Amino acid sequence: MTLQSIAVVGPGAIGGTIAAWLSRNPLVGELTLCARTPLDRLVVETPDGSVIEATPRVVTDPAQITAPVDWVVVATKAYDVAAAAQWLKPLVGPSTHVAVLQNGVEHVERFAPYLDRDRIVPVVIDVPAERSAPGRIAHRRNGTLVMPAGEAGEAFAALFAESVIEASTTDDFLTVAWTKLSLNCAGAVNALTGQPGGVVRAEGVAELMRQMVRECVAVGRAVGAKLGDEIPDWVIERAMTSPADSVNSLLADRLAGRPMEWDARNGVIVRLGAIHGVPTPVNAMASTLLAATAWTPD
Ligand SMILES: NC(=O)c1ccc[n+]([C@@H]2O[C@H](COP(=O)([O-])OP(=O)(O)OC[C@H]3O[C@@H](n4cnc5c(N)ncnc54)[C@H](OP(=O)(O)O)[C@@H]3O)[C@@H](O)[C@H]2O)c1
Repeated sequence: MTLQSIAVVGPGAIGGTIAAWLSRNPLVGELTLCARTPLDRLVVETPDGSVIEATPRVVTDPAQITAPVDWVVVATKAYDVAAAAQWLKPLVGPSTHVAVLQNGVEHVERFAPYLDRDRIVPVVIDVPAERSAPGRIAHRRNGTLVMPAGEAGEAFAALFAESVIEASTTDDFLTVAWTKLSLNCAGAVNALTGQPGGVVRAEGVAELMRQMVRECVAVGRAVGAKLGDEIPDWVIERAMTSPADSVNSLLADRLAGRPMEWDARNGVIVRLGAIHGVPTPVNAMASTLLAATAWTPD
């Protein structure tokens, strides 16, 4: 196999973790980090406590890209897509694929305005990672990457053959993505209350979260995902058994004063529910209130 050239756009917690593991793959030739904030190198603590140090080329301006690559890996937050897309023009050539590692169910739709849909490889990512400073990341649990079945998805999975991250393909990507969304949508409660995972035990909260998930399941089914009746209870059970002090990314972003991915996690349920005639009042309230946290008087 010829050596693969890869550019990671958005080397934050996920992009940095992925880049660190890719740097260990002998099939990866050139590895470039396309960053907004400069970083000197990657230092990634892995789940077994060992550390990967890597010094890929770092660029901070699309004008520094001189040739297209085989793979672009986009790992910005979902709300940074327009800015991330600035990198695509110099990076995407006739045979480039773009893997989108973001939460939500609209990986392809977000990037379709910028390139052919058949170049986009959506990835459902479950790789817990935290960034303490630019390039300094803790990769907490091995985790998984799931892509749609097919040549591109399998080629992307092969890049992780020697990593601890389990990369696989599925014949039903829609269902995998909506199952993850079912899990994520209820996390809005934490950002709204400012409380960590344990708030699920506060009176009425589990039922409210269950209702958010029911709406997600109903909309997911309307778009064709195969979601079982057990999903709302499964999500609440997971929340009940998670550490009471766990902080999801929506809450972490709110506490840090950063934008939040509420649209990718709740707004999408409301938007698609409206198209398919599925009522989504609880997700609508959550989206409206989370959006309003950024409101400022004129
Ligand atoms: N972290 C997790 O455990 C986890 C787990 C599952 C799924 N996810 C999903 O993975 C995606 C990435 O999340 P994350 O936690 O890795 O976020 P993150 O740590 O905030 O990383 C995002 C990175 O994108 C960079 N960026 C933003 N705009 C850019 C641009 N125009 N050009 C280049 N880089 C740009 C940011 O730059 P700065 O350095 O300037 O901020 C940051 O380095 C999200 O959709 C998230 O929901 C995350």
